[in-house]
Amino acid sequence: FKFENILFEKREGGVGYVQLNRPKALNALCDGLFTELIQILKEMDNDPEVGCIILTGSEKAFAAGADIKEMKDQTFPHTYTSNMLGWWDEITRIRKPIVGGVNGYALGGGCELAMICDILIAGSNAKFGQPEITLGTIPGMGGSQRLTRVIGKSRAMEMVLTGEFMDANEAVQRGLVSRVVEPKLLNDELMRVSRKIASMSKPITMMCKEVVNEAYETGLKDGLKYERRIFHSTFATNDRKEGMTAFAEKRKPNWTDS
Ligand code: HXC
Repeated sequence: FKFENILFEKREGGVGYVQLNRPKALNALCDGLFTELIQILKEMDNDPEVGCIILTGSEKAFAAGADIKEMKDQTFPHTYTSNMLGWWDEITRIRKPIVGGVNGYALGGGCELAMICDILIAGSNAKFGQPEITLGTIPGMGGSQRLTRVIGKSRAMEMVLTGEFMDANEAVQRGLVSRVVEPKLLNDELMRVSRKIASMSKPITMMCKEVVNEAYETGLKDGLKYERRIFHSTFATNDRKEGMTAFAEKRKPNWTDS
């Protein structure tokens, strides 16, 4: 299988690095890119050496949206019968943390892909937007749902109805991204955070991701119960025992991912 639209490598410290790489189209998400992205994310998810995944683009664009040229002649029967974008949520089933790094444009499907990441760090040049309305369509990969949950109805509605972009400073103020850094320093920051996450126990890390995401799927009462059950289940791992023992013995834990 030849990857044409993304670059990837396993980096030291258990970090899987994935970079969208269609520079001539500002990383527009064509079918081929989707297929490759899902395949490599699944491979990394199943790779016992990988503890955290980075997903990023170029300095000019994370991704400027779904590929408009590819979409422009699509018909309703085809989009419906092929369930266009329906398999997209496979990315939400990746169980290891994904740290997204956004420099430049994250528009339409690009913004939606960014919002699927578990942690988002932006370069100060980042621009987020859902400009689908300017093309006569609407967000199709969660833009109306995830954006609204994060930044609230009024601002999300304004972005979806005007197609205007939001800059990195506003994105951090509204909690869409966790931090803003100099564009040139984005990769270093992604590596720093990801290496730290990858240095933790993998099963415990995956449980952390699972319970935080549950907060988006369920109400408080059920979410708290879910959290407590997973908390209890950490007591079935060696790493929970090792972590607490290491603390008491004033030494670093030696995780075995068991
Ligand atoms: C296909 C795209 C593209 C896209 C950019 N390009 N975005 N091709 N699909 N989404 C291509 C351009 O056609 C151009 O190709 C090249 O990338 C460089 O783009 P320019 O427009 O020349 O660059 P610039 O002037 O710097 O403007 C950047 C930009 C603009 C503001 C990001 O490209 C833009 O508005 N792009 C579209 C953004 C958008 O509407 N995204 C939402 C897509 S709909 P050539 O060959 O001319 O050099 C969507 C639906 C989601 O995502 C539904 C679920 C997936």
